[in-house]
Amino acid sequence: MAKVSIVGAGHVGATCAYTLVKNDVADVVLVDIVDGLAKGKSLDMMQAGAIEGYDRNITGTADYAQIEGSDIAIVTAGLARQPGMSRSDLLCKNADILKVVLSNITLVAPEALIIIVTNPADAMTQLAHKATGHDSRRVLGMSGVLDSARYKFFISQALGAPMSSIEGMVIGAHGDTMLPVVSQTTVNGKPLAELLPQGKIDEIIHQTKFGGAEIVSYLKTGSAYYAPGAAAAKMAQAIINDTKEVLPCSVMARGEYGIEGLYVGLPVRLGRDGAEGTVEIPLSAAETEAMRDSVKGAKTLLAELPEFKSIVI
Ligand code: APR
Repeated sequence: MAKVSIVGAGHVGATCAYTLVKNDVADVVLVDIVDGLAKGKSLDMMQAGAIEGYDRNITGTADYAQIEGSDIAIVTAGLARQPGMSRSDLLCKNADILKVVLSNITLVAPEALIIIVTNPADAMTQLAHKATGHDSRRVLGMSGVLDSARYKFFISQALGAPMSSIEGMVIGAHGDTMLPVVSQTTVNGKPLAELLPQGKIDEIIHQTKFGGAEIVSYLKTGSAYYAPGAAAAKMAQAIINDTKEVLPCSVMARGEYGIEGLYVGLPVRLGRDGAEGTVEIPLSAAETEAMRDSVKGAKTLLAELPEFKSIVI
């Protein structure tokens, strides 16, 4: 029986847990530092199972001992972005939280693959890789699945086309320099560039990049969680079910697009071993340039952490 632990039973963690049990992927352990929060949510979700028709076990706890034997540990613990707060504002506070969480995970569930959701995701995933000492295939970040979902949503809105008819990916850093790969985007097999004028495509790119900030501006006291929770669950599902699906995730680049040793969003085949191999999709000249900027942005942010201050930008 597959077991997924989620550290951080807040908005994203709980949504992820709910998606996993509804999709019958795994039993779930929710862990949170706030006493009773994970327990309360887990009971609520178990009771929903009688209506929704799932029988999965969901444990809520503040005790890491419960995560023993997990196949995957998903980390959503940390602060969510507030209005006016950039991803880099979050960096140091969430890094401190992550170090504590990761030391507990490696102690109790050393075999678990790790998926980092806490923002800024690429930097937090790089930190997780360093802190755990795990093989980089076993430490991934949630980024492109969410960004690509937003990209597809905005294309669907512009064309009145169902989201299922859209093939497209967002790669690069999980931030304002993310790269929706327009040159490889199709709707019902037709290139996006043949369906919309460049001005409208530029608007969609902008909407995608700032889709998270738009939601923060409406919610005021938190950030998005339905799509982020679903995105993390999708990654866990692909790993547990060994689907070999290619999804854009934050993974350690090993020469792809000339990037070496940096966690950044790339299309990656997900299976039981985690990130089982990347797929280098072709980029136009402008996209190659944008990817360079994105990598530079990711490195600049990472260098703000003492652990990576000597990184060459
Ligand atoms: N150990 C366990 N849980 C912790 C710890 C810790 N050391 N520190 C904080 N938490 C918990 C909080 O108690 C809270 O319940 O993490 C949870 C975070 O939940 P929310 O505040 O609801 O934030 P959420 O919207 O879920 O976002 C979490 O995901 O998408 C990212 O940017 C987002 O970094 C943020 C993270």
